[in-house]
Amino acid sequence: MKGVVLAGGLGTRLYPLTHVTNKHLLPVYDKPMIFYPIDTLVKAGITDILIVTSGPHVGHFLGVLKNGKELGVKHLEYAYQETPDGGIADALALAKDFADGGPIAVILGDNTTDADISEAVANFKEGAFVFLQEVQDPERFGVAEIDPNDTTRIIGIEEKPQNPKSNYAVAGVYLYDNAVFDYIAQCDPGYAGRNELEITQVNNFYIEAGQLRWHELKGFWSDAGTFESLHASSRYYADKAAAMASVES
Ligand code: TTP
Repeated sequence: MKGVVLAGGLGTRLYPLTHVTNKHLLPVYDKPMIFYPIDTLVKAGITDILIVTSGPHVGHFLGVLKNGKELGVKHLEYAYQETPDGGIADALALAKDFADGGPIAVILGDNTTDADISEAVANFKEGAFVFLQEVQDPERFGVAEIDPNDTTRIIGIEEKPQNPKSNYAVAGVYLYDNAVFDYIAQCDPGYAGRNELEITQVNNFYIEAGQLRWHELKGFWSDAGTFESLHASSRYYADKAAAMASVES
């Protein structure tokens, strides 16, 4: 399977930091943010990767990632999202040629996790697969309503709901078959009132088709797109490194 890291957007919530570089190149503890999602893909055996990016600092990616070899990437491509805030599904549409008719693993460039997705990747055949995690602040995320009579089934996903129907947030890690590009073409920018093509609408198309499955994302997971979450993520990886160093000494 090929992998796609979505690193467009404007990163406005991290102004003034994102006036100097792209959000995904800011440090999370001892590495640029984008190293974490790339590492998640590489650990799952995905080494053919497309980075979709945008905004005024796109050239910085080449300087940091080069050909991706230091991260274990065998083939690295870049695509440019002309509308930087066109939405996650708008950014993903740019991966159509790269996917070349096959399935793709997609991860948001500001999502950091130490969860292992390799089993889901290895077992993926068709449809879509999302990862859920219980959170304290579900209103910040896409929130899944799970069927109480069949907990393997998601009834629907609401984007940043004021009154969330559960605490299960949809993590920014997704597996899709090639139908995803047809679903993106059907997306409506008015869907969640943000003038963006929403990945939540894409996931709901898969639910309507009875083609979306899910699994809990086990391990640490956080976006790093706000000052609080950027700090929390850095702290987690700093603590983890300190714990590993004390075991080794
Ligand atoms: P967001 O954090 O929702 O948006 P943003 O990165 O523009 O930040 P802000 O809200 O602070 O302005 O995006 C989540 C991830 O999705 C981010 O890592 C980049 C990616 N993304 C794109 O690739 N293209 C887009 O058009 C958007 C909106 C997001």
